[in-house]
Amino acid sequence: MTHQIILIFHLLAATVWVGGHLFLSIRYLPEALQKKDASILINFKDKFEPVGLPSLLTLLITGILMAYHYDVTFTQWFSFSNGIEKIVSIKLILLFISVGMAINAQLFVFPKVKSENLRPVAFQIITITLIGVAMLVLGSWVRIGGL
Ligand code: HEM
Repeated sequence: MTHQIILIFHLLAATVWVGGHLFLSIRYLPEALQKKDASILINFKDKFEPVGLPSLLTLLITGILMAYHYDVTFTQWFSFSNGIEKIVSIKLILLFISVGMAINAQLFVFPKVKSENLRPVAFQIITITLIGVAMLVLGSWVRIGGL
């Protein structure tokens, strides 16, 4: 039962994180590229950040709690020794990459963004969206025993 409740929070946070990035990639990014208007992306980022970052933190906390329920504890992480541990370790690596990319976007990509050249920001958005989708797909493998 506890696991079920934690999983529900995990899935809600995944919905916000992945759903937000898919909407950004499919709806706002093409519009910004077409209109050559960086403000569309900056406005979305400013509105999404206060919900996106807490959802990423929720994914980390609930993910680690569920990993412990599967007996994948801290000492086993990154040993790539069994099916579920492999998924947890890959997800942790992808999550750290996502955090790194979010910091990079905040400090370096967005402050320099220019409406005439949206390529760096488009690359950043598409990469972080694909990483989120990959983490969702990896999660679906846990119930069948992992990789
Ligand atoms: C963007 C980040 C993440 C997304 C989108 C995501 C998404 C998902 C999804 C969709 C599931 C499937 C649940 C099911 O089959 O019912 C899942 C399960 C799971 N995730 Fe994540 N996850 C993320 C991050 C993490 C992290 C960082 C960890 C570990 C540290 C983690 C650990 C787990 C575990 C252990 C399960 C299995 C739960 C179960 O089926 O009992 N996840 N995740």
